[in-house]
Amino acid sequence: MPEETLRPFTFDIIRAENVILNTYDNHIKRSLSAMRNQYHDEKAYEALLNQQDYMLYEVYEVKRPEIAGELLQGISIVHPGKVGDEFFMTKGHFHSELDTAEVYYCLQGEGLMVMETPEGEWAVEKLIPEKVLYVPPRWAHRSVNTSRNEDLVTFFVYPGNAGHDYGSIEKQGFRKLVVEREGEVQVIDNPRWLPPEAR
Ligand code: F6R
Ligand code: ZN
Repeated sequence: MPEETLRPFTFDIIRAENVILNTYDNHIKRSLSAMRNQYHDEKAYEALLNQQDYMLYEVYEVKRPEIAGELLQGISIVHPGKVGDEFFMTKGHFHSELDTAEVYYCLQGEGLMVMETPEGEWAVEKLIPEKVLYVPPRWAHRSVNTSRNEDLVTFFVYPGNAGHDYGSIEKQGFRKLVVEREGEVQVIDNPRWLPPEAR
């Protein structure tokens, strides 16, 4: 790592029509095809994918060494839309280093953070502009955009050594799903989810 990157540095969050960072090192894009088996309505998923491999979310990362003591930062942008009745969302993950937390600061849009522990305790918190969310150690987290037409944009900070564990979420999803039914945002049980002792 060049010497100058070890000195304090700043960057700007530009709140233009699309929120963006003025400097970033990595731009991750996840489209529908990367989310196979993650939405509860498989037919709706296939039908939408047949139309187009829609872009669901993007992450702009500021790179730092992935070691304890460092902090990783960036912005996450979940686009609006639904697969069947289920809102566009991130994959969601536990941190591989389970005892690491994360802070989210909502910049734009509206959504929900769906969270759960390995034991199956769950929580859902609303994300609206200027809301800060603390995700404690051990809680898996997924951002869901519940707006009809606006991006959900959050700034995040988490420990450099956290790592990402997508495994168990990929298998059966989160305990709770966020859907639109009768014109309302509803948090419902995921029929595929099993408690730890039944897996
Ligand atoms: C990092 C973190 C966020 C997410 C991002 C995309 O620990 O929680 O930066 O990585 O919102 O979500 P995933 O990684 O679940 O695809
Ligand atoms: Zn995380």
